[in-house]
Amino acid sequence: MIIESPATIRPKSDDLHSNSTKLIFKEERMKIIVAGTGYVGLVHAAVCSEYGHEVYAYDINKEKIQAYATGEATEIERYVNEPSLSSLIKEMHGKYLHFTDTIDEVIEGTDVIFFCLPTPPNEDGSSNLTYYDKAAEDIARKLARRKDKRRVVLVNKSTVPIGTSRHLETIMMLNNVENFGVSSNPEFLAEGTAVTQARKPDRVVVGCDREEDFKILRRVYSQFVNHVRIKYIQTTPETAEAIKYVANTMLLTYISFWNGVGARIGERIPNVNVDDLRRGVTADDRISTWGSYVSNGAGGSCFGKDIRSLIYQLRRVDVNTKMLESSYEVNEFQKVYLVDRAISEAGFSWSTKTVAVLGLSFKKNTNDMRDASSIRVIETLLGKGVNRIKAYDPLSNEEAKKVFTAENNILFSKIEYYESAEEALEGSDALFISTDWEEFRGLSGVISRMVKPPYLIVDGRRMIPDYQDLVERGYHYLAVGSPSLQPGT
Ligand SMILES: NC(=O)c1ccc[n+]([C@@H]2O[C@H](COP(=O)([O-])OP(=O)(O)OC[C@H]3O[C@@H](n4cnc5c(N)ncnc54)[C@H](O)[C@@H]3O)[C@@H](O)[C@H]2O)c1
Repeated sequence: MIIESPATIRPKSDDLHSNSTKLIFKEERMKIIVAGTGYVGLVHAAVCSEYGHEVYAYDINKEKIQAYATGEATEIERYVNEPSLSSLIKEMHGKYLHFTDTIDEVIEGTDVIFFCLPTPPNEDGSSNLTYYDKAAEDIARKLARRKDKRRVVLVNKSTVPIGTSRHLETIMMLNNVENFGVSSNPEFLAEGTAVTQARKPDRVVVGCDREEDFKILRRVYSQFVNHVRIKYIQTTPETAEAIKYVANTMLLTYISFWNGVGARIGERIPNVNVDDLRRGVTADDRISTWGSYVSNGAGGSCFGKDIRSLIYQLRRVDVNTKMLESSYEVNEFQKVYLVDRAISEAGFSWSTKTVAVLGLSFKKNTNDMRDASSIRVIETLLGKGVNRIKAYDPLSNEEAKKVFTAENNILFSKIEYYESAEEALEGSDALFISTDWEEFRGLSGVISRMVKPPYLIVDGRRMIPDYQDLVERGYHYLAVGSPSLQPGT
């Protein structure tokens, strides 16, 4: 069922998309289906409709579709909470953006179908294509019944193993779909800035086999073709698929380099200041500041899963994957090693303690908890005998409740959720900062007001620049990248 907005407003002029800086003429308008409306699909559908394309955002999850169709921020943000996304949806819904839990009514006349489906990891690290295949089969059967035989391009935005476009082509052929092309157009957005990035990506990578399909995608992305700043890259589907894996693996490897080398130097070699080390090294234009901030590991739905998938894919063609394995291992180690450092360096016993955990989402400005470091931290703390976790996150308390269920682990019943850092700190014996939310920066005043020494502060994000004051007042401070600082040191 297609769900229209409560007050469907049609544009006054059909010639130009009036309410956007990105103008598109009706001759350029395409009919697009976006299959899968999670973080990637919902943002992509909204921004494509903002260009002026006619977009049908499709998901088998009826509750999500109904929530999005209300146009209400609180409803949309229950599923995807990205800055300015809900207001964009509110503006576009009923104009060029439609929500539907079936594509039967809209498949006729469709030019492009984007696949934005989940591709979670299997136990062995390979990509699980169950959701993807199911959607592809379903869409293939519907395409085969089309009366309108115009060319339709099926585009992978999901991160899929190299060669999946070919696999998609086979599914279509086995279902007797006529006049179709397959394409890979990987998504590079980072959560927290997804809308901004979708409006102005640094690159658009499009892999196709035929010029006619490149042409259709150039119409979809007409805003970006020949743009002075945005690189519009046309290549083979396999190269496009590989670009996504190499990019994500490179990013995680860079983060792991700083965590595995920079942080260790700052922690173990006397008189090395890790912040100055970072500033000095990244003053070189060839070395990125992004990723150089040491932390308790990188989470999120992509880095870990993508590097594991690439390792799996490369092992199958006999490529040595030691470097990638190390990147992954360093990142996993980093998520929990501070818990052990507190024992070995601060002599702290976690047993029976109450611990405030600030920050649950995998990074700031998102409610996404997938593979968040906080999950491993909380599991490890509870495994060490912590009596009570007082958790607070500005956005993801509700998401966290879905992750930390007693069915997953009976110890999770020891987690309590609070509405502010102050409330979480009150009555705690130790603090663990796990996410770099801006509001945690300079938390020292709140800490000294809410809790008194002896008290252990574990800072996984180096969020307290004036930690020295706290140490002088008797607090024990332990941060990633620095030696443990005890009162009197
Ligand atoms: N989240 C990111 O930051 C990000 C960035 C780049 C690439 N990616 C990749 O994009 C893909 C999607 O990621 P996501 O984070 O948006 O996932 P998600 O889990 O948030 O969303 C996927 C959506 O697909 C829907 N779905 C499942 N089966 C379906 C079907 N048969 N038909 C229609 N809809 C169906 C689900 O209900 C869900 O809403 C993954 O391959 C991921 O690796 C994600």
